[in-house]
Amino acid sequence: MEKNKEIVLSGIRPTGFLHLGNYFGALKNWARMQNEYECYFFIADWHSLTTHADTSGLKSMTRSLVSELIAGGLDPDKCTIYAQSDIPEIPELYLYLNMLAYKGELEKTVTFKDKVRQQPENINAGLLTYPVLQAADILIHRAHYVPVGKDQEQHIEMTRNFAERFNHRYGEIFPVPKAFSYSEDLVKILSLDGSGKMSKSEQQMNTIYLNDDDVLITKKIMKAKTDQGPVLANSKKPEYIQGLFTLLGLVSSHEILKKFEYDFNHCQIRYGDMKKQLAEDMIRFIKPIRERAAALQSDPVQIDKILTKGAEKARKSATATLLEVRKALGFRYL
Ligand code: ADP
Ligand code: TRP
Repeated sequence: MEKNKEIVLSGIRPTGFLHLGNYFGALKNWARMQNEYECYFFIADWHSLTTHADTSGLKSMTRSLVSELIAGGLDPDKCTIYAQSDIPEIPELYLYLNMLAYKGELEKTVTFKDKVRQQPENINAGLLTYPVLQAADILIHRAHYVPVGKDQEQHIEMTRNFAERFNHRYGEIFPVPKAFSYSEDLVKILSLDGSGKMSKSEQQMNTIYLNDDDVLITKKIMKAKTDQGPVLANSKKPEYIQGLFTLLGLVSSHEILKKFEYDFNHCQIRYGDMKKQLAEDMIRFIKPIRERAAALQSDPVQIDKILTKGAEKARKSATATLLEVRKALGFRYL
């Protein structure tokens, strides 16, 4: 490992199978970054407790997620892949950062307000301090870049604030990390009915998973929301149409995208044809990932090995940071 490479960290909760939002918002960037940076990618299993109290499926979900991450491009020889719960240094840093996080700012976090609406019967303190745990994940490796989708922007902004507060009060320990994407803006993949982002908690038919079979992919795309088409040349696209064009731009060739853009702008678009083409290109994109993930998943011993090796490396980095943090705070009595 080269000494002066900048550090990258990102994580994902083991709460469901990966979908196109996860792939294009996160994993695609991760796979590219592993060639250029020192990368840590982890399964945020503690975070999943804030919404999924039942832990019985955690182990198999974690294994399946690791398989999908590798099938989608991560190489355990190029990056460090680990489970959050294997790194006990994270909760100690979380404790210190909690003293620098204010109740008011936590209550104002968009994801917290969303969760309060979604699960009014379980507004636990973990939900409130979710961004603090996320900051601990990032700062424990003194990361510079955090490749995430648009929805995580606010959490990274909060991490920056906590890092700055810590540095200001106790000494310069942490680089102030940045949200990262290779594209100009952070990516947002819309749900197939155009109502918000594609997500695990969305209606299943509006989300395309990396493990959907060919028939299901076609079915979902053919059912995606469209309309009669524009009546004025060069109209602005409604969000649900833009969402389909975004997907076309990601999995189809440039010529195909241009053709349907042209048809739209000249009010001659046939959405049925466009969806058929999109389904075909989507299948070509997803099939190899799905097949690789299935093959990996049949070998849990191999996955556990990857996680064990990852945890060892991640703990080394975490322990070094925590030592600096304790020194800065003055907790070094022995
Ligand atoms: P979900 O919202 O489906 O539960 P996660 O919260 O586990 O997904 O997200 C994991 C990663 O995938 C994050 O970096 C997040 O920004 C990204 N991501 C999730 N959904 C989308 C989406 N629809 N568009 C872009 N990025 C997304
Ligand atoms: N909150 C992130 C999500 O829902 C998952 C996550 C936890 C994360 N800790 C992180 C992402 C640290 C980036 C860095 O997707």
